[in-house]
Amino acid sequence: MIVISDLTKRFGTITAVDGVSMTVARGEVLGFLGPNGAGKSTTMRMVTGYLPPTAGRIEVCGHDVAENPIAARRHIGYLPEGAPLYGDMSPITYLNFIAQARGFARGAITPLVQRAVEKVELQGVLHQPIDTLSKGFKRRVGLAQAMLHDPEVLILDEPTDGLDPNQKRQVRSLIRDMSPDKVIVISTHILEEVEAVCTRAVIIAAGRIVFDGSPAELRRRSARHNAVSIRLGAEIATEAKGLIEQMAEVAEVEVGEPEPGTATLVVVPRDGRPIVHEVGERVRSAGFAVNELYTERGELDEVFYRLTVAH
Ligand SMILES: Nc1ncnc2c1ncn2[C@@H]1O[C@H](COP(=O)(O)OP(=O)(O)OP(=O)(O)O)[C@@H](O)[C@H]1O
Ligand SMILES: [Mg+2]
Repeated sequence: MIVISDLTKRFGTITAVDGVSMTVARGEVLGFLGPNGAGKSTTMRMVTGYLPPTAGRIEVCGHDVAENPIAARRHIGYLPEGAPLYGDMSPITYLNFIAQARGFARGAITPLVQRAVEKVELQGVLHQPIDTLSKGFKRRVGLAQAMLHDPEVLILDEPTDGLDPNQKRQVRSLIRDMSPDKVIVISTHILEEVEAVCTRAVIIAAGRIVFDGSPAELRRRSARHNAVSIRLGAEIATEAKGLIEQMAEVAEVEVGEPEPGTATLVVVPRDGRPIVHEVGERVRSAGFAVNELYTERGELDEVFYRLTVAH
């Protein structure tokens, strides 16, 4: 439903988006990640037809966004970065206005607005000027606006930014519920959010795609994926480390944050394969008294760092 080909955007001498290509299919929830200034918002603004590309093509539901922006936008709901425009309007006035602008007949507007208001729980602030709402409520007004016309394509630029933990959960479950018959693209700085709601993760750095795969694949890229952490008495740490290091499956053993009297060993597997049984067996047969032994899942922020900074 979205086809992006060799998309590029330059602002003067800055290349904000640099040859991005991807196809997003119905049912996918794509998490768009990248450091500040990587080009996420710029890409989203081009996909939604609010910013013309310097080069490249975008197709949304069969419509070329440059040639046919009105037809393309009919299929798109867009939550821009930051607060909604028209801050002097109340949410109810604003949402009615948006529905009118989208060309809905008078009789259709009230149920549409009501549904959106309920979905993002705006009932308590409907008549307060948007400018005077808290950050999270402004975000919810933006979300209500984006999903008002039940579009097939949702482009949400940091949808959970500023929301409290309960609202984050609510919005994530809303996204999951809507996803089967839509294409949803969300940008986020919360790496765990990608695992919670996305079927696919795309990371960009300096305008280029540096990762495109499943959230599980992203985690598997972690050096700590399937590593085994062991907490044991500090007095046996060195001996245990020496013994475990000799195992063929083990790449290295790191000694982590020791507390008084105890030490933590992190056993990193040679090829990312699970080694918990082998390590557990070795520890038991040597007779070491172990307080804790568990498998690490890997650290997303470490992978993100390596992909976006240390490349
Ligand atoms: N209108 C503009 N004029 C000049 N430069 C711009 C403009 N819009 C964006 N940029 C630049 O393009 C680059 C990409 O910005 P963009 O807002 O797309 O990043 P982002 O990935 O959304 O970052 P963030 O995580 O901070 O939201 C930045 O260097 C930014 O300063
Ligand atoms: Mg942005």
